[in-house]
Amino acid sequence: MNRLLDVRQLSKTFIQNGSVVTAVQDVSFDIGEGECLGLVGESGSGKSTLARILLALERPDCGEITLAGRSLLALKGSALREVRQHMQVVFQDPTASLNQRLPIWRSVIEPLDNFPQVTPSFLTEVRHSRRAAAARLLEMVGLSADFLDRYPHEMSGGQRQRAAIARGISLGPKLLICDEPTSSLDVSVQAQILQLLKTMQAQLGMTCLFISHDIAAVQSVSDRIIVMKGGRIVDRFASRQLMDADRDEYTRRLVDAVSE
Ligand SMILES: Nc1ncnc2c1ncn2[C@@H]1O[C@H](COP(=O)(O)OP(=O)(O)OP(=O)(O)O)[C@@H](O)[C@H]1O
Ligand SMILES: [Mg+2]
Repeated sequence: MNRLLDVRQLSKTFIQNGSVVTAVQDVSFDIGEGECLGLVGESGSGKSTLARILLALERPDCGEITLAGRSLLALKGSALREVRQHMQVVFQDPTASLNQRLPIWRSVIEPLDNFPQVTPSFLTEVRHSRRAAAARLLEMVGLSADFLDRYPHEMSGGQRQRAAIARGISLGPKLLICDEPTSSLDVSVQAQILQLLKTMQAQLGMTCLFISHDIAAVQSVSDRIIVMKGGRIVDRFASRQLMDADRDEYTRRLVDAVSE
């Protein structure tokens, strides 16, 4: 399997009330093309900081990030913009990526408006019309055309997260980073959203980084799992090896926390 993302010795500290907090410490991993890597850890373990660094929303203190062989941290301006189209994100709170004052189709189509030259293969026939492209994207995530003109507040949490996923896949990204995409949802809806993400990943051949504090959710979508604690990776294994005897004690604690 070719590597899509390669992360080497990434570290990031913050200053909080005059003292140094190490959010990410010497983190290295890679993700193969078409693979889903799960990232699990308790609150404050550095998961979102790592995601934000990958998305160039935060700068690391040191380390190296390579996407499809291209070093990311040195990129600026149009080169950074060009790479951004290949890395999209779905956050825990769908309202963060949906404009409350616009009908949903406008939020879904926004990335395509920002990159007019991009036409992913699944939108070839509808790209001429922004509304038709939005309708196609909504259909892909299980929302009918009735939703085009709804406002976010007129939708359920699960429907909003579906729309956020439609937006996330709209450019046909190489890498989709999902940061706790099901954590704000009802348990019954969580399973549907996990299934949708799995289906989208397979259909579009996307590579995923799936972040959650819920190790059961992570295992259900991921090929491999890395476990973070206090900014460091403390365990890494294939998903099917989650219950193996040589799992780190901390990983076992996360497993026990689910069954409690
Ligand atoms: N902008 C910031 N300024 C100062 N400290 C920060 C900042 N962002 C994160 N931190 C700190 O870095 C550490 C890691 O936070 P991070 O949000 O990455 O954790 P997380 O694993 O995503 O947690 P959660 O599961 O609650 O989302 C925490 O101690 C947090 O307080
Ligand atoms: Mg987080």
